[in-house]
Amino acid sequence: MFDRSIKIAPSILSADFANFGKEIEAIEAQGCDWVHVDVMDGHFVPNLTFGPPLVKAIKKHVKTFMDVHLMIAPVDPYIEAFAEAGADLIAAHVEAGPHIHRTLQAIRAQGVKSGVVLNPGTPLESIEHVMDMVDLVLLMTVNPGFGGQKFIHSGVEKTRRLRQMIGDRPIHIEIDGGITPETAPLVAEAGADVLVAGSAVFKGGSVDNPGVYGENIRAIREAAEGARQAA
Ligand code: DX5
Ligand code: ZN
Repeated sequence: MFDRSIKIAPSILSADFANFGKEIEAIEAQGCDWVHVDVMDGHFVPNLTFGPPLVKAIKKHVKTFMDVHLMIAPVDPYIEAFAEAGADLIAAHVEAGPHIHRTLQAIRAQGVKSGVVLNPGTPLESIEHVMDMVDLVLLMTVNPGFGGQKFIHSGVEKTRRLRQMIGDRPIHIEIDGGITPETAPLVAEAGADVLVAGSAVFKGGSVDNPGVYGENIRAIREAAEGARQAA
């Protein structure tokens, strides 16, 4: 069921890589809504993370919704493997190749939800003609590749314009990069509903001290919901 309530999606890029199962169980027990999985290839972005076998292994621990953000080029040869690994949604970058339309068709053909991602410098016009093929648009508010970077403020106005472009269509707006209790209200007020946060969720906590994850998630959620109510 589609809704525009605020959803917090911790990025496991900031989790303990040797302990993904327990980390996912901890963030879910502490109230996150989705689990955001960053796949990087050392080519489209200057960092490497993991591939389908690891995503499949962690899926066993995800009870909520597994949101897979592909920062890889080419994308198409790997879509089936990530769908089989259990992705609930697969998001691909418009900059990752010349055929985003074909990529989105291929994602939907796997029976999973589809998302399109835009880097901070990529205009909204680049997705105008694929809006009816997506369940989610992800706007990057950092240049992809690493956690812990500074929020790029032009993403706020971009979110507002995207919200207008979407109108009544059931399409989520997800924001990724530099989300904290300070920046979350800016994009929530502008129309975002899914907020990815890596460092701001995992900082200060651990699987042995998961209450900190809960406090961090609540701080982001309350700031975002507060901005919505004030708007
Ligand atoms: C960046 C990734 C993000 C990243 C966010 O390329 O797509 O999901 O983990 O990290 P923070 O929240 O620390 O900016
Ligand atoms: Zn991401």
